[in-house]
Amino acid sequence: MEVHATVDALRAALRPRRAQGGRIALVPTMGALHEGHLSLVRVAMRRAATVTVSIFVNPLQFGAGEDFTAYPRDLERDLARLKRERVDVVFVPEADGFTRGLRTTVHVAGLTGHLEGASRPGHFDGVTTIVGKLLGAVQPDVAVFGEKDYQQLVIVRRMVRDLDLGVEIVGAPLVREPDGLAASSRNAHLSPDERRSALALSRALSAAREAWGGDAGRARGLLRSRLQKAPGIRLDYAEVVDPSTLEPLEGVVQGSARALVAAFVGRTRLIDNMGLESPGAEPSGRARD
Ligand code: PAJ
Repeated sequence: MEVHATVDALRAALRPRRAQGGRIALVPTMGALHEGHLSLVRVAMRRAATVTVSIFVNPLQFGAGEDFTAYPRDLERDLARLKRERVDVVFVPEADGFTRGLRTTVHVAGLTGHLEGASRPGHFDGVTTIVGKLLGAVQPDVAVFGEKDYQQLVIVRRMVRDLDLGVEIVGAPLVREPDGLAASSRNAHLSPDERRSALALSRALSAAREAWGGDAGRARGLLRSRLQKAPGIRLDYAEVVDPSTLEPLEGVVQGSARALVAAFVGRTRLIDNMGLESPGAEPSGRARD
């Protein structure tokens, strides 16, 4: 496994692999790797001859007062895990160097102002700018993103389409802990009590999915009432949206929908989401173009 810290070294490492004609995949991460990240690596392995993983805690996507400095970092452990997965190339840009002096921002209008964007202004500009840079540095044939960050996946697809970046974006299913909690680097911040309270998110989503009969207002109401009542949780948002456009849905809808929630558990902000499938609908609910 090769580890590179500069774009030049990374490109030099990828050049002969590209010349051999094999597809190159990129899995962008911020490290503190868990089973969710590793599942993306496995998806990438099936789609490309060379898998590149980037590890970069991106300052551009953290707002003032967010957890940039407290974000968990453990590079040695991450590299050991990636080696075990037989990853080919790891890109670990230097902390300041990669973003220093940038004058360009990538902004995807419309999809970025609500849900996560309402609570974290500027967050998605930071994400699309860094993902744009990573796609430019690696120039992969395919890049894999998790449905855990569902809005991010939809926004990245849109950026790639709008800018003709010519990379296939693959969405990978959300990985959960055995008790249902969505795997997240931020779970490391939870105390045992908070960890128990956090289960309310996946439970509310499961309840909405089980009760789903196509009525978006009812599903939204169910999510909100359950999460507002849940002890130890401060609800940020609970929405039911069109899986492709992220537009909030009203009334009875045809086809599938996506339920997304965000809540604070203590000082930790957690997000989760699930597909709401109508009977007879394609079993997807995934982000598509
Ligand atoms: P990070 O939170 O480290 O996540 C990296 C990738 O792993 C994202 O595509 C995310 O959706 C996916 N992921 C995280 N938890 C997952 C889970 N439980 N199941 C499935 N996939 C999961 O997302 C980011 O970093 C950043 O915004 C990044 C894209 C790297 C840009 O800085």
